Amino acid sequence: MATVLLAGGAGYIGSHTALELLNAGYEVVVADNYANSSPEAIRRVEKLTGKPVKLYEADIRDNAALRRIFAENRIDAVIHFAGLKAVGESVAKPLMYYRNNIDTTLSLLEEMAAAGVKNIIFSSSATVYGEANPVPYTETMPRGTCSNPYGWTKSMMEQIFEDAQKADPALSVILLRYFNPIGAHESGMIGEDPQGIPNNLMPYVTQVAVGRRECLTIFGKDYPTPDGTCLRDYIHVVDLAKGHVKAIDYILQHDGLEIFNLGTGTPYSVTDIVETFQRVNGVEVKHVYGERRAGDLPASYANADKALRLLGWKTEKTLDDMCRDSWNWQRQNPNGYRE
Ligand code: NAD
Ligand code: UD1
Repeated sequence: MATVLLAGGAGYIGSHTALELLNAGYEVVVADNYANSSPEAIRRVEKLTGKPVKLYEADIRDNAALRRIFAENRIDAVIHFAGLKAVGESVAKPLMYYRNNIDTTLSLLEEMAAAGVKNIIFSSSATVYGEANPVPYTETMPRGTCSNPYGWTKSMMEQIFEDAQKADPALSVILLRYFNPIGAHESGMIGEDPQGIPNNLMPYVTQVAVGRRECLTIFGKDYPTPDGTCLRDYIHVVDLAKGHVKAIDYILQHDGLEIFNLGTGTPYSVTDIVETFQRVNGVEVKHVYGERRAGDLPASYANADKALRLLGWKTEKTLDDMCRDSWNWQRQNPNGYRE
C-alpha cells in the first residue's frame, strides 16, 4: 500500500486524516514542529487504529530535514497541512504568517522535486473566494480579495502550486478548500486543541460549556440572513478527513491539478450552532449578542458537487453529530492534550 507524508499531521485535521488513512490501509509518516499541536495526538491515533505512525519532529521549512524524511521513506504522496491559521494573529504578525506558510510550501515543493515525489494535496480554505463571489461557491470562480494575511497566504500558495504544476506537468496537485471544520472523532480521544483564547466559534462554545470561559459573544445579529447571524458551512472533521482519503485515492490515479470544495453545501447560522449544541448535549451555553467582527462575511457555503462527481465523496454526518462529538472531546479533555 502507498505511503503518505502528512506535513503538519499532528494538528487537528492532520490527526483525524492520519486515522482515516491508516484505517483505509495506507502507511502514514507525520512531520510536525508542534507549533500548534502535540505528539500526544499521534500517540492516540496509534492507539485507536492499532497501527504505527512514523513521527518526525521537524520544521517543514527546513530543507535538510525534509531531505532526510524523503531519503528514509518511500513517500508516494504528501498532504500539506503545516501552517499557522489564526486570523487575528496574522493581522498583528503578517511577516510571521507569510514566512511560515509560504516557506513550508516552497521547501516541500523543492524537496519533492529533488526526491522525485509527484503527488501533493494542499489544505486551502474557502477564504480564498473573497468578498465578491456569490454563494454557494464553486471551484471555477476566481479567487477574490482576502480580508487578512492568513487568507492571502492561502491564495498565494494556491498560485504557487498552479505555477509549479504548469512548469512540471508530471506533478499532480489537489487544492482542497475547506469550509468550517468542527467536531471530533467519536471516541473523544482526538479533537481540536486551540492554544489560548479560541478565535473560532465551536471551540469557544465548548469552552463556555465546560466552564473555562464565561460567555460567548455572537458577533452581529443584523446580517441579511434569516435570523440575522452569519451563515457558514460547518463540516464534521471526520467527513473532512475521509475527503482526504478519497483525494489520495484520486491523486494516485490522475495527473494534473484539481480544486475541490470540501463542505456540506448546507449553511447554518451562529444561533443554529448554539441552539443545536444546547439541545443535543443538554448543557447551557451562556451567550450575548455583540458587534459584528471585522472581516466576517454574511454567508459562506459550498457547492460540493465536484467532490461527489470526481471523488465519490460527500458528507455523512449531521449538525447534531458535530455538536455531540465536539462536546464529547471537550468534556473528556477539558484542557486538551495537556493533562
Ligand atoms: P492545526 O494548527 O491544528 O494544524 C497545523 C499543524 O501544522 C500543527 O500541528 C502545527 O504544529 C503544524 N505546523 C505549523 N507550522 C509548521 C512548520 N513550519 N513546520 C512543521 N509543522 C508546522 O490546524 P488545522 O485546523 O489542523 O489546519 C490544518 C491546515 O488546514 C492548515 O494549513 C490550515 O490553515 C488549514 N485550514 C484549516 C481550517 C480550519 O478551520 N481548521 C480551515 C481552512 C484551512
Ligand atoms: C475563520 C476565518 C477563515 C478561516 C477559518 C478557519 C475570519 C474572517 N475567517 O472563518 O479565514 O479559514 O476561520 O480557521 O476570521 N463567531 C461568533 N463568536 C465567536 C466566534 C465566532 O459569533 O466567538 C461567529 C463568526 O462571526 C462567524 C461564525 O461564528 O459568523 C464562524 O466563525 P469562525 O469559527 O471564526 O469561522 P469563520 O469566520 O467562518
